Amino acid sequence: MTEERTVGSDARTVRVGLLGSGTVGAAVIRLLDERGDDVARRAGVRLEISRVAVRDATRARGLPLPADRFTDDPAAVVEDPGIDVVCELIGGVEPARDLLLRALASGKSVVTGNKELLAAHGEELFAAADRAGGDLYFEAAVAGGIPLIRPLRESLAGERVDRVLGIVNGTTNFILTQMSEHGWTSDEAVAEAQRLGFAEADPTADVEGYDAAAKCAILASVAFGARVVAGDVYREGISEVTPQDFADAQRLGYAIKLLAIAELEEDEVSVRVHPSMIPADHPLAAVRGASNAVFVEGPRIGQLMFYGAGAGGDPTATAVVGDLVSVARNLLQGARGPGSISTGAHRIRPMDDTHDQYYLKLRVEDRPGVLAEVADRFARNGISLERVWQEGFADEATLSFITHRAQEGAFQKTMQELRELDAVHAVASLLRVEGEE
Ligand SMILES: NC(=O)c1ccc[n+]([C@@H]2O[C@H](COP(=O)([O-])OP(=O)(O)OC[C@H]3O[C@@H](n4cnc5c(N)ncnc54)[C@H](OP(=O)(O)O)[C@@H]3O)[C@@H](O)[C@H]2O)c1
Repeated sequence: MTEERTVGSDARTVRVGLLGSGTVGAAVIRLLDERGDDVARRAGVRLEISRVAVRDATRARGLPLPADRFTDDPAAVVEDPGIDVVCELIGGVEPARDLLLRALASGKSVVTGNKELLAAHGEELFAAADRAGGDLYFEAAVAGGIPLIRPLRESLAGERVDRVLGIVNGTTNFILTQMSEHGWTSDEAVAEAQRLGFAEADPTADVEGYDAAAKCAILASVAFGARVVAGDVYREGISEVTPQDFADAQRLGYAIKLLAIAELEEDEVSVRVHPSMIPADHPLAAVRGASNAVFVEGPRIGQLMFYGAGAGGDPTATAVVGDLVSVARNLLQGARGPGSISTGAHRIRPMDDTHDQYYLKLRVEDRPGVLAEVADRFARNGISLERVWQEGFADEATLSFITHRAQEGAFQKTMQELRELDAVHAVASLLRVEGEE
């Protein structure tokens, strides 16, 4: 640590201004306290946390950092000329967006774990970083402790990744695992997730798929170099999935998972988040509890799978510190990491034009000819059926289908026609099927 290349005023020391000292921020402070020397030895750069902005700077936090480093004035951190890198771990869009723009404009590089901000304003932030010649790193924004952004941006720069598919929200995976293993309703499983600290008091962002949609947008942007925002992502949450769906799926040899799927076909990107049935022997079916797992596919690599802890203070702090090391090394070398992620040359494929397999369960009148009537609606819309089951219960029967791959628009038209049939009493279940064809 003696070489005389200088950033800030200390040789080979890079000064970090931290915005936020909550679950992740506090874990970053502890990690650097415990492992800072080792990081400095291995990475050739010492990271020093110079200032920390929080909402309440008077609260005792029991962290290994002097109390006078904490401030309730984040502007003072982003504008401090002695700080080289700003690390944003506040969350939400504002004031995080404004603070990062100010940090970049004043010549600092930035690291963030903020998926909500990137999925809504990523382009603006990358443009600001490009203008200022600074770095913007965000490994922690998707899949917490699993290195995924760096492999996509750097290791796989030579591949034309055409599909990214996976479980990117640990809370919903925990809830679905509980439903599957205990036969619980989603409300019961959400309550258990809240009791164990896996779900927020207001679980909407997770349960309704907003968090996964933001991550899906970021993954598509990075994997395909496309301009994708959270609003482009088709989104269905898990609140409609029932214990009966799990019983039926298990009987048929499937698991149910909330998947984020980003696909590139020619110059069109499709992005969606929805509960999916996947074959019980598919690797994603074995991902239990709060874990995350993501498949990355391309013509040369085939399939890569990334698996591990998608959230939590300690795992996520490792991703943040990895980014801080990269940014700090770039500063010391007068270099810059990868710049803007999107080329903008892609069109977002409307959901109606995407293709999938579908599982459908109908409650129908129990009389001869109903199956033929229903099958005819599929045939008229060009949808072929892979599997069909019929079960009778008193004066009602259930008809269940798995289709071959079909166009979403044609499938939704079929659904509309089926709902209008007198013989169809109710749509008991409708799920997409992934991982087969
Ligand atoms: N938690 C995870 O497992 C995880 C995983 C991956 C990514 N992330 C992302 O990492 C970011 C941080 O998450 P977190 O779970 O650590 O959040 P958190 O526990 O809620 O902590 C937020 C921190 O920001 C501070 N803060 C809030 N508003 C502020 C403001 N206006 N000015 C200054 N400080 C402010 C809070 O101060 P006080 O302490 O005074 O309240 C707190 O220290 C989010 O973008 C999140 O999506 C989190």
